[in-house]
Amino acid sequence: MYNVPYLTKLETMKILGIESSCDESAVAIYSEQGLLAHAIHSQVEMHSVYGGVVPELASRDHIRKILPLFKKVLAESHLEIKNLDGIAYTKGPGLMGALLVGALFARSVAWAAGIPAIGIHHLEGHLLAPLLSDSPPAFPFLALLVSGGHTQLIAVHALGEYEMLGESVDDAAGEAFDKTARLLGLGYPGGPALAKLAEKGDPNTFQFPRPMIHQKHLNFSFSGLKTAVAQKVMCEQVIDDKMRANLASSIQQAIVDTLTIKCESALKETNYKRLVVTGGVSANQCLRRSLEKMTQKLDTEVYFPDLEFCTDNAAMIALAGYHRLKKGEKEGLPVEVKPRWELMQSAS
Ligand code: KG4
Ligand code: ZN
Repeated sequence: MYNVPYLTKLETMKILGIESSCDESAVAIYSEQGLLAHAIHSQVEMHSVYGGVVPELASRDHIRKILPLFKKVLAESHLEIKNLDGIAYTKGPGLMGALLVGALFARSVAWAAGIPAIGIHHLEGHLLAPLLSDSPPAFPFLALLVSGGHTQLIAVHALGEYEMLGESVDDAAGEAFDKTARLLGLGYPGGPALAKLAEKGDPNTFQFPRPMIHQKHLNFSFSGLKTAVAQKVMCEQVIDDKMRANLASSIQQAIVDTLTIKCESALKETNYKRLVVTGGVSANQCLRRSLEKMTQKLDTEVYFPDLEFCTDNAAMIALAGYHRLKKGEKEGLPVEVKPRWELMQSAS
């Protein structure tokens, strides 16, 4: 269907990546030599007034930002459209309107340039983000994916070969950070703010629940934490700065302990010697320290993405697209986005 000159020059293939699933507009170019350029515009400030992402505002802002970002990465990598060999865009899951902006832009540029475009699962992007670092993990590995919408333990056998071992039955870890941060009167998004405040507190002041840690399965549940924190906050007459820091620290510790214990069980059960931690919450330093300590004990390597690639970015989408296009995958012309999409259904 396509004129596919890229198939003859796999080694120099340059892939444009586009991410617009939620509140970050991002564009990147990835090639065999590595990442050539990437740019992100975060909408956090715009949405913070409303305490969360407003979908319609997100779509409109993606429309405003995507073209300037595209021009920026082309200029930074000293490339022109005609030098691109393929385009990868986030096809889902995410906000319908926001996804459509990226998908339509990607398909239009691809059509005009006569190159293939491929839709990527956002979580596959996160899973592969550690491959952008200087010391990338080899396949296979166990992955802990911890973002604002997902908490999953996945056996990654190879690119596109994923097996779900466990996941949150309710709130995601990032959601637990965000919702409890809100109860403490911290801004949006709450995760980084809560983590910063937690550094000043004592993690042993309050005992918050660490659900499901004694159960054999590898699922998580974080909604009870939000309720426990809400009750604690309601019972207190005055919450001064010290108590707020102690609350933040104890909440963070409960989330980190739960994730660490479940990862340890998963590693013991599967015998993997590589753990990859990815998604927005993988930027959390307390989690990194805890997982480093645990994996050392098990003689297991642990990998995290570089900090700039923990949260949403287009470099991870370009990289995933690069590998899929290199395998010869391609899609037809219809523009399709999938606001709801299970990772396992994206397998190649
Ligand atoms: O992966 P991501 O950018 O977006 C999703 O695909 O969901 O993750 C965003 C989540 C938010 O819940 C945010 O609060 C959390 O990651 N997050 C953090 C930290 N940085 C981002 N949570 C805890 N500590 C952090 N340092
Ligand atoms: Zn994400």
